[in-house]
Amino acid sequence: MLALDPPARQSVRERPTVAAKANDEGKRRVRVVLVGPPGAGKGTQAEFIAEHFDIPKISTGDIFRSNVSGGSDLGKLAKKYMDAGDLVPDEVTNAMVRDRLAQDDAKAGFLLDGFPRNIAQAYELDSMLGDLGTTLDVVLDLEVDNEEVVRRLSGRRLCKKCGHVWHVEFDPPKVEDVCDKCGGELYHRDDDYPETVRHRLDVYVSQTRPLIEFYDQRKQLVGMDAHGPVEDVTERAIESLAAFAD
Ligand code: AP5
Ligand code: MG
Repeated sequence: MLALDPPARQSVRERPTVAAKANDEGKRRVRVVLVGPPGAGKGTQAEFIAEHFDIPKISTGDIFRSNVSGGSDLGKLAKKYMDAGDLVPDEVTNAMVRDRLAQDDAKAGFLLDGFPRNIAQAYELDSMLGDLGTTLDVVLDLEVDNEEVVRRLSGRRLCKKCGHVWHVEFDPPKVEDVCDKCGGELYHRDDDYPETVRHRLDVYVSQTRPLIEFYDQRKQLVGMDAHGPVEDVTERAIESLAAFAD
């Protein structure tokens, strides 16, 4: 199951990215939520999409992880849930996102990666945006099958310093365990071990996947095949989102 035979492909860093090309043509803003199962590539794509549209990437998982490594009270609380593969309680997560969305850089647009994660959080997001006098433009669902999720998560490595996401087979750094971008040390996420991954997938199915139907009924959902090389997925994602940008 975990034996990997990835297709040969050019690294995303060895050729101009879609984002770099499009930024030359002018920046456009969008308010977007990324959804998809663990390992779908939300964090990977969030970085490129945010750069392309010049919007802040707001990743609840990243904010929790930086609190865990900083040893804050929020980090101590979140770690218990994250290590078990469970959701951090809504009241904690909602308050954190409310604060972040109220910051100036999120006024013209934002990308939410990992929030909302259940229907209650989706209603809370409505309330946050209503209070800020704005609305969501689109929810982009990154669709990948379970086998691909396992392949992606089993080889994932994160940079301790800048948070960039690598993959030992599909997107390896030039020097093993060292981030090309900032020289930081790479690490394996505590919740990427098989048993926790299985539980995270169950939590996704029971709590997060109902959001697909929820946003589809609201006509805010765009589904996208997220298989294939990172740069091809980025290109398709940006094309899908461009229609909603102003
Ligand atoms: P979070 O960090 O959000 O984890 P997740 O949703 O499980 O998603 P992942 O980060 O695992 O996957 P991803 O889709 O970002 O994939 P990635 O781009 O890294 O949440 C962690 C925990 O925090 C939760 O379990 C919960 O406890 C808590 N939490 C967070 N938000 C919360 C909320 N709203 N409410 C309550 N609790 C919350 O890619 C995976 C790998 O694949 C990488 O190695 C990458 O290099 C590789 N890859 C990506 N794209 C491709 C491609 N196209 N081809 C080949 N490889 C690829
Ligand atoms: Mg992620």
